[in-house]
Amino acid sequence: MLKLSLLLTFWFFIITLTFVLIFTLLVRKKILYLKYISETVEHIANGKLGLTIDIKGKDELSQLAGNINYMSKELENKFIHERQLEKVKNELITNISHDLRTPLTSIIGYLNLIKSGQYNNENQLQEYFETIYSKSQRLNYLMDELFEFTRLSSPDAVLNLNKVDLASIVQQIVGEYIPIFEKEQLSVQRSITEEDIPVLIDVEKMVRVYENLFMNAIKYSLKPSEIQITFDSIENTTLLQVSNRVENPPEADVNKMFERFFRGDEARVDAQGTGLGLSISKRIMELHNGDIRAEYKDGWISFIVELPMDNEQLQNSS
Ligand SMILES: Nc1ncnc2c1ncn2[C@@H]1O[C@H](COP(=O)(O)OP(=O)(O)OP(=O)(O)O)[C@@H](O)[C@H]1O
Ligand SMILES: [Mg+2]
Repeated sequence: MLKLSLLLTFWFFIITLTFVLIFTLLVRKKILYLKYISETVEHIANGKLGLTIDIKGKDELSQLAGNINYMSKELENKFIHERQLEKVKNELITNISHDLRTPLTSIIGYLNLIKSGQYNNENQLQEYFETIYSKSQRLNYLMDELFEFTRLSSPDAVLNLNKVDLASIVQQIVGEYIPIFEKEQLSVQRSITEEDIPVLIDVEKMVRVYENLFMNAIKYSLKPSEIQITFDSIENTTLLQVSNRVENPPEADVNKMFERFFRGDEARVDAQGTGLGLSISKRIMELHNGDIRAEYKDGWISFIVELPMDNEQLQNSS
């Protein structure tokens, strides 16, 4: 009897010891893992964004580690994005300052001449006023473009969407531009579909894209020459193409023209645009889930504007 009782006690002791040992071992592993998690979080908090924890096992702790990894990566992405925005903003400010200073310096220069009476006669005074007026207009145009650009660059830029027939809109704008093209010795070859092309768009902004293309064709085309405008739909996409002749082939990739402040002929910068028109257009097309791109072939530059017809995503977000 005593022997049995001793044996039982012995086994009880052995089982309890094994249990305690296994339990301690398991908990110790968890505690070590928890310590590792806590140390990693501390590193993340100290600025090592993007740092991740090795996932071990499939329990609450590994779930916590997974969530921390997600948070760390998201923080890193946000940080990179913020830094990029900062860089873009700085570049923008540098370019803006330069662009605004040019007409402003000339306005101040002419005003100084007038103020100190440095003109020979009424005619010269009138000439100075005219220069001041045209430089002020240039300044005004620059400010408008910059305002539009910054407004559209914002991540929460919104479109004022309406369902319209794009074919008749294109037809109308082209009609309005034909006399201007002709005045500039540019004959127009057009092919615009007769069919209705229903699309969901921000009319004012899309018109801006098309008008910039027409104005560019007028400003930068070889003269006299020809401009080709086609508009049609292929499958579920509308395509507008504007092509004009250029004197020299583009020096770099034609799609560089979509970069902010890109101006081809620096010598003529003052009399020409701001170099923002195409980047504004690119952003407008992005907001419409569409695209705008350029191609060069045998002396012709073509701009192609693509817009989806079944713009369900836009429909849902409007
Ligand atoms: N149709 C074109 N043919 C030849 N070069 C072009 C054409 N369109 C644009 N470019 C080149 O791309 C540059 C950028 O055009 P973009 O429309 O962005 O700006 P911009 O016309 O200078 O200014 P803005 O449109 O703001 O008045 C132009 O300065 C020009 O060098
Ligand atoms: Mg332009």
